[in-house]
Amino acid sequence: MTDSGWPTVGVAGARGVVGGVLLSILADAGLPAGCLRAFGTEPGEVGYGDGTLTLAILDEAAAAELDVLFLATDGAVSREIVAGPGRNVPLIIDNSSAFRLEPDVPLVVPEANGSVLDRYGGTLVANPNCTTAAAVVALAPIRDLAGLESVDAASYQAVSGAGRAGLNAFEVERAGDGAERANGSPFHGRIADNVVPQIDAMDDEGWTGEERKIMAELRKILGLPELDVSVTAVRVPVHTGHSVALHVRTQRPVELGAVMDALRDAPGVEYRHATGSSRHPMPLDVVGRDPVLVGRLRAIPGRERGLALWVSSDNLRKGAALNAIQVAARSDPGRFGRLVPPER
Ligand SMILES: NC(=O)c1ccc[n+]([C@@H]2O[C@H](COP(=O)([O-])OP(=O)(O)OC[C@H]3O[C@@H](n4cnc5c(N)ncnc54)[C@H](OP(=O)(O)O)[C@@H]3O)[C@@H](O)[C@H]2O)c1
Repeated sequence: MTDSGWPTVGVAGARGVVGGVLLSILADAGLPAGCLRAFGTEPGEVGYGDGTLTLAILDEAAAAELDVLFLATDGAVSREIVAGPGRNVPLIIDNSSAFRLEPDVPLVVPEANGSVLDRYGGTLVANPNCTTAAAVVALAPIRDLAGLESVDAASYQAVSGAGRAGLNAFEVERAGDGAERANGSPFHGRIADNVVPQIDAMDDEGWTGEERKIMAELRKILGLPELDVSVTAVRVPVHTGHSVALHVRTQRPVELGAVMDALRDAPGVEYRHATGSSRHPMPLDVVGRDPVLVGRLRAIPGRERGLALWVSSDNLRKGAALNAIQVAARSDPGRFGRLVPPER
């Protein structure tokens, strides 16, 4: 901790899409630039608040100064940092998928399973997939009210979920006049004016890596290893803001009104009961905002204990950067609680 009472915070991948949002949230919290260290693949500068920060290479000397390190890097780089320069950092929150399913590494969304941090003595915590984060914030209050027997999800995932490469491909395709896929696109088809029902590689059984991740992460975070779950993950031509259609079956019968009340009271949720001209949750409503928006709640006709709902959330905030900072705050409120700015 510095004399000012602020921790010394590191962000690896500070020039990336998630890294940029981490910096903007830390600036909103008032973290002085002198308490922040930004790391990338080569030296340079990156904007912070009204000024700039020097971007450095993360090495052991730089890591020794840190109280907490946020990794906004891909899985291979995260593994190298955790085993290398980061190994003595007191707390690392990793945004990649590298450690999420390791049994001894907590995978945390504070609203759903923050209490796992109370009995954790380790230094590495994993942050979930952006779609998982949105879904569990909406599912946790239903789990607590009536239990969850099954969850079927279809996701509508924005291009910024694929980082700088995804945004570049989207911009290039939108600006062009052809129907071609951009060179270097991370998507499995042209994304502009299109919808691509494959995210990540597909396995021999026809499931994609993204779908497998979301299914396993839902079970782990909800603490329901036997949960009957299926996911179809789809990329849509939206800059930022993931949405998910959730069809669930509860374990116990429950009144729709009670579910509505539980969602209205749930931490991290903004429940929208759209009537007349009021709006359903949509990606444009969540960009730059913290809560997960939930709406379209209805009972599924003819299906016992069946509920359908719709969720939209900023994939870069609750789906990544904000959740990572909330995890740090939840794991040590005295040291890191100040890093969470007032809700947007
Ligand atoms: N985008 C989302 O919505 C989202 C949501 C949840 C989780 N995630 C995960 O978060 C991570 C970052 O995603 P992103 O979308 O921000 O990707 P991105 O825009 O491609 O950024 C990745 C960054 O990693 C940096 N990097 C690579 N090697 C590095 C190293 N050795 N040291 C420091 N920085 C290094 C790059 O730095 P330079 O620019 O300096 O080369 C780049 O800026 C990924 O694991 C992703 O799966 C993303």
